[in-house]
Amino acid sequence: MSIVDQSRQDDILVLTINNPPVNAFSPGVPEGLKAGLDAAAADDTIRAVVIIGGGRTFVAGADIRTFNLPREQSPDLRGTIQKLDAFPKPTVAAIHGTALGGGLELAMGCSYRVAVKDAQVGLPEVKLGVLPGAGGTQRLPRVVGAQKALEMMLSGNPIKATEALQLGLIDQLVDGDLLAGALAFARGHADTRPLPRISEKAVPGAAPEVFAAAREGIKKTHRGQLSPSLIVDLAEMAATKPFAEGWDAEATLFMQAKDSPQSRGLRHIFFAERESAKIPGLTKDTPTTEIRSAGIIGAGTMGGGIAMNFLNAGIPVTIVETAQDALDRGLGVIRKNYENTAKKGRMTMEDVEGRMALLTPTLDMADLKDADIIIEAVFENMDVKKEIFTRLDAIAKPGAILATNTSTLDVNEIASVTKRPESVIGLHFFSPANVMKLLEIVRADQTSDSVLATSMALAKKIRKVGVVVGVCDGFVGNRMVHRYGDEARKLVEEGAKPEDVDASMNALGLPMGPFQMSDMAGLDIGYAIRAHQAKVAGRPKPDGWLDRIVERGRKGQKTGAGIYDYDETRKPRPNAEMQRLIEDYRAEKGVTPREITQEESTKRLAYSLVNEGARILEEGIAQRAGDIDVIYIYGYGFPAYRGGPMQYASEQGLQSVVADLERYGQTPAPLLKRLADEGKTFADFDAEKGRG
Ligand code: 3HC
Repeated sequence: MSIVDQSRQDDILVLTINNPPVNAFSPGVPEGLKAGLDAAAADDTIRAVVIIGGGRTFVAGADIRTFNLPREQSPDLRGTIQKLDAFPKPTVAAIHGTALGGGLELAMGCSYRVAVKDAQVGLPEVKLGVLPGAGGTQRLPRVVGAQKALEMMLSGNPIKATEALQLGLIDQLVDGDLLAGALAFARGHADTRPLPRISEKAVPGAAPEVFAAAREGIKKTHRGQLSPSLIVDLAEMAATKPFAEGWDAEATLFMQAKDSPQSRGLRHIFFAERESAKIPGLTKDTPTTEIRSAGIIGAGTMGGGIAMNFLNAGIPVTIVETAQDALDRGLGVIRKNYENTAKKGRMTMEDVEGRMALLTPTLDMADLKDADIIIEAVFENMDVKKEIFTRLDAIAKPGAILATNTSTLDVNEIASVTKRPESVIGLHFFSPANVMKLLEIVRADQTSDSVLATSMALAKKIRKVGVVVGVCDGFVGNRMVHRYGDEARKLVEEGAKPEDVDASMNALGLPMGPFQMSDMAGLDIGYAIRAHQAKVAGRPKPDGWLDRIVERGRKGQKTGAGIYDYDETRKPRPNAEMQRLIEDYRAEKGVTPREITQEESTKRLAYSLVNEGARILEEGIAQRAGDIDVIYIYGYGFPAYRGGPMQYASEQGLQSVVADLERYGQTPAPLLKRLADEGKTFADFDAEKGRG
């Protein structure tokens, strides 16, 4: 089997692309397709050509791994499409699975497109920080109209073949065997002349307001990003300029986008996310158990949110509380969340009832005896957790997974109270647990491979991005965020205003800065952690400026006031009295406030994450730098187009990161220092370890 097979079916030449797993447009594919087209052109008995994907899908796009190659070595997708566009005989793309990016562009270069009903088509390039670079920006608007094309190219989301049929993007749906259907279609159109060419059409619905509205829209949806505005410019060119002009401009702008740090960041995350699903040392045949039922202990905000993930996946949940009113309140919140979704039209009331019917409330922990997995989601107190796990050990059936949702505590210590530590694992959800995509999967010393593999599979099933981490205080995400919080408080102590510190992270693309985030999470949480740490270390109770704010009863959004004031819109407003509190605090400590630039603030905060990330990496708490990036993007709102904190640091150059850390009085982690000295990046470290 060659990368592009030629097979003659009477008067039709079938070109089958065989480039598993997703038939990406890798080296060899263009050569194979061009050779097939030449063969078909040279043979008078061939009346049409069908292009089809072997295996599970049509072409899923350009080969992203080749984006780093010099231009002359990149697979010639554009040349192949030009050849198709000029081809004298009918060409038919036969689509199953997904035709994405360059895959859809290839199909749009053909005279016709047929597809099976469950196929999907789309131009997801924006998600990689690029733009459709092989005619997509010029052809899609000509088929589906300016508005719809912009919607598809700016969201990057695919549409179903049924919708594509209505839009004229697909010419016919095939029931049954795709190849047979495509051959019949090709024969039916073998003599049609002139051949339909999308490049010759005009763009429907191309009023100038459509582009103006798109430009306005991306200011909100894609703040700070480069490629969306280039996409709008090119779609407008499709509507206003000859095809050839738009086609040439697209090539130039594609290269500009591809070579940007934003695209490198998004591509890094694309691969890091897939890599994070792989656990070194765990083979594919590690046995997993199917999770058919779940038990959750605690119906508070976390427990309720966790339960919703299972209900959404059709897995029945038994939820336990200690008092009826807490249970009723918890169930009420879950129902209300679903009803709100229904009000927005994103689910029906029937769906709401269906999900609620899968939920069994109880006050008796013994009702968890048949659950395949039990997740404890009570407040952060080691003694309480130990007591629960001792009871669970007696109640749970053999083989059940016993999970804790702790965000900081030692999972080994929790496991130690059971006679089955191999069944104990940490599953750290992020609030709101029904929304946030991240799941830190905390592997304790004795967690079995099977429990780990089952947890990874479960994460996928409940639509989370699962990342394996090791046991330490705060695991990966919170351990880093604690250092970041320390640095943020220090910046204010030295002279910055809280709102300026937040603005410095907003400027980097984070929707919330450190203080906006802690006001949302609840200031009492950080306060309790600092108090606990002080107690353990035998220090007096914490007395920073932020502790003084908390001691005034200002616990953040939940009390209507924290570092900032809040009204019903939840927009933070600086409070003059708190500013005075901070000034008094500085005066008391003898600190003369100084001007702190936004650049200093951004660097100190971002690099405090990086520095702790490097320690975490060196200790093996995270498996790869890419895992840390995935955690920060899905759990903490770090902008994906920066690639996560570790990729961001590599992009800045680790030498300059080290120099800045030293300039601002932080001690660079040994690993960071070494990589910087050797002129390496975190990706090089992953490669050294044979990972990533
Ligand atoms: N290039 C290179 N590798 C790719 C790839 C691509 N376009 N798409 C997927 N892969 C790889 C993945 O990295 C993964 O590799 P691994 O097994 O070594 O981890 C493997 O293929 C399978 O991918 P998934 O795990 O994602 O498989 P799924 O079945 O869950 O999803 C998919 C399949 C929907 C095709 C998904 O992989 C996807 O969305 N791929 C990206 C599609 C895309 O963005 N295409 C546009 C590319 S840019 C472009 O075309 C530019 C052009 O306009 C010039």
